[in-house]
Amino acid sequence: MSSKTILNDGVALVTGAASGIGRETAFAFAEAGVRGLVFADINDQGAREAAEESKQYAKNGQYRAVAVKVDVSDEASVQSMVDATVKEFGRIDYSINSAGIGNVNPALTPDADLEVFSRTLETNIKGTMFCVRAVTRAMKEQEPLMHTSRHGTRSLGRGSIINVGSVNSYVAAPGMVSYTTSKHALIGLTKSAAIDCLKYHIRINAVCPSWVDTPMMQASLKRVPQLAQIIKAVSPLKRAATVEEVADYIVFLCSPSASYINGTGLIMDAGATLTAHVA
Ligand SMILES: NC(=O)c1ccc[n+]([C@@H]2O[C@H](COP(=O)([O-])OP(=O)(O)OC[C@H]3O[C@@H](n4cnc5c(N)ncnc54)[C@H](O)[C@@H]3O)[C@@H](O)[C@H]2O)c1
Repeated sequence: MSSKTILNDGVALVTGAASGIGRETAFAFAEAGVRGLVFADINDQGAREAAEESKQYAKNGQYRAVAVKVDVSDEASVQSMVDATVKEFGRIDYSINSAGIGNVNPALTPDADLEVFSRTLETNIKGTMFCVRAVTRAMKEQEPLMHTSRHGTRSLGRGSIINVGSVNSYVAAPGMVSYTTSKHALIGLTKSAAIDCLKYHIRINAVCPSWVDTPMMQASLKRVPQLAQIIKAVSPLKRAATVEEVADYIVFLCSPSASYINGTGLIMDAGATLTAHVA
C-alpha cells in the first residue's frame, strides 16, 4: 500500500469526474483504497476515459470503476445516477459534488447577465442540492462503516459528503456576482444538510479553494489574460493550488481521521484571505 492509502474500503461517487478537481479526487479515492468508484459527469466520454485511467492507481484488489452520464441540474438525472451507484455497489460511502461551472461571463452587477445568473445557480447550487438530497436519502438507509484502531472500534457513520465550494464562498471579487452568490449559497446548503443529517450520522462538509490549476482556471486565463499576474500577486505561494492538493484534502475529510469534522467550509488559499499581508 502507498503511504497515502487511508481508506480500507468503501464506495465513492464523484460528480464532475471527467475533469479538474473531480477527476483528480476520484483518482485519489482509487489510490486511497475504495472498492467501488462512480465517475459521473455530463461529459460521458471524459468520465469513461477517467474511469479507465483510474484502474492504474487503484490499491483495492476488488476495485471496480464505472462511468455514469449525469446532468446535475436535472433532478431525474441525479436520481438515476444515485440509483445506478447503489445498484452497482450496494451503498455510497463518499459523495463528492465537484460538478460546476465557473465565472463564465465576468460583469459588474449592474451589467450582470441574468440568464448566466440563473444558469450558474441551476448548476452550482440547485445541482448540488439535488445530489445532496438524493445521496442522503440513500445513505440514511445503510449500515454505518466501523473503524478499529488501537483505542477500539468506533462508528464512522453512514457516509461523508463533500461539496466543492470556493474562496468565493466567503469573499467577493469584482465581476463575479453569479459565481459568488452560488458558492455562498453552497455553505448554507452544507450547514443545513449537516445539521439535518446529524440524526443519521452522515457528515457533510465543504472545501473552499482559491485558484486551482484545472481546465476551468485555464478557461478563465483565456478570458482574463492578466489573471496569471493577479494569482501570483494574491497567492502567498505565488501560484494556484494543484488539483492534488485539493483532492488529498477531500480524501482526508472522508477518512477516519476526520470523523469529528462536520458542517465546516474550509478555506484552502495558502493564506491569501488572511488580513495580515504576506510579503
Ligand atoms: N479551478 C478553480 O480555480 C476552482 C477554484 C475554486 C473552486 N472550484 C470549483 O471546483 C469545482 C470543479 O471545478 P474544476 O476547476 O475542476 O472545473 P472543470 O471545468 O475542470 O470540471 C468541471 C466538471 O464539471 C462538469 N459539469 C459541468 N456542468 C455539469 C452538469 N450540469 N452536470 C454534470 N457535470 C457537469 C464538467 O463537464 C467538468 O467535467 C467547481 O464547483 C468549481 O466551482 C474551482
